Formats: sequence, C-alpha cells, structure tokens
Amino acid sequence: MRLDSVKEYERRIKSIIITEDEIKDGLKRAGEYINALYDGNPILLVSVLKGAFVFMADLCREVTVPCEIGFMCVKSYFEGTSSSGEVSVVMDLDRDVKDYHLVVVEDIIDTGRTLKKLLDMLGDRKPLSLNVVTLLDKPDRRLVDLKADLSLFTIPDKFVIGYGLDCAEYYRNLPYIGEYSEI
Ligand code: IMP
Ligand code: MG
Repeated sequence: MRLDSVKEYERRIKSIIITEDEIKDGLKRAGEYINALYDGNPILLVSVLKGAFVFMADLCREVTVPCEIGFMCVKSYFEGTSSSGEVSVVMDLDRDVKDYHLVVVEDIIDTGRTLKKLLDMLGDRKPLSLNVVTLLDKPDRRLVDLKADLSLFTIPDKFVIGYGLDCAEYYRNLPYIGEYSEI
C-alpha cells in the first residue's frame, strides 16, 4: 500500500466507539450468561464468518461449560446499503445439530434479515435449543422482528469497523470498534 493510501486508511477511522476494555467487560458478561444458562449441558457455539471470528475466538475462552465450535459462511446480498434478506450458504456446519444446544455468536444485527434467515435454517434442523448472542445491535435499522437473547452493546445507526467487522475487507484486525468515515 502506498503511503498516501496508508494515511487515507488511518484517516477513515473517525473515532473509537467501544474501547478494548469495554469489549473485555462485555466478553465477561457474555461468558457468565452462557455458563449460567447451560450449566452442565454440552453446547455448540456457531459463528458466522467472517465478521464474528474475533468475537468467537475471545468469547469461547470465557466459556467454562463443555463446548464445541462450529463455523458457517453465508453470503448476504445487498440492495444499496441494506441486506436484501437473500442469503446463500457458502460453507455449512460440518455436523448434525439435533443433539446440541446451539448458541449463534454474531458480530452485528443491523436490519436483522441475515440472522433471521440463518435462524430459520438452523431451527429447521431441530437443535435442542437455539440462542443468539451478539456483540453489537443497531436496533434503529431493524426491518424484521428479531431480538438477540443477549446483546452486549447497542449502537446508533453508524457504520462501524474493527474487532472482526470490515469495510471492503479492511479494519477487521482493529482491537476496538470504531466509526468509519465515508469521506
Ligand atoms: P443485516 O442487515 O442484519 O442482515 O446484516 C448483514 C451483515 O451486514 C452483518 O452480519 C454484517 O456483516 C454487515 N454489517 C451490518 N452493519 C455493519 C457495520 O456497521 N459495519 C460492518 N458490517 C456491517
Ligand atoms: Mg455477521
């Protein structure tokens, strides 16, 4: 990357919305929630690539009940800046979920259309139970009736980057959540 584009890359990180310490506190809360809810029951943590990979990696280390980890990769089709609700599975889970309590680990719920499709799909496979933990929630943008069982941070209608979330595949490696500057 050329130096002027590196400067541009840095300039577009407008501000920090959620700090590393705040994320750490959130992870503790999510771990306590899961450990209390599934006391003694084996669970499968399912995360949707790529956005939730950092959250999953940190959250699973707060979990003390027996847990397995699974990944799916879905592609959401967009109409302008909102997802259309049309979702295709690029990579599916590698096991049958009917003997598991499933916990879907999400990065962000925006319109909710992607997660709604995913939950319908997973629900059809008859897991023992189905629960959703999301790092971020943008309720102002919601277009379908959907609420996570646990949401760590509610944010305003702003495009955010970092801690797994990207803009054109960049910024996923930032250790905090920042607001992205379009101009
Ligand atoms: P949906 O609108 O709830 O279906 O969200 C679809 C996907 O859009 C999310 O899983 C994210 O990958 C992405 N997305 C939504 N809002 C943001 C954001 O502020 N930053 C980065 N990605 C986002
Ligand atoms: Mg996602």
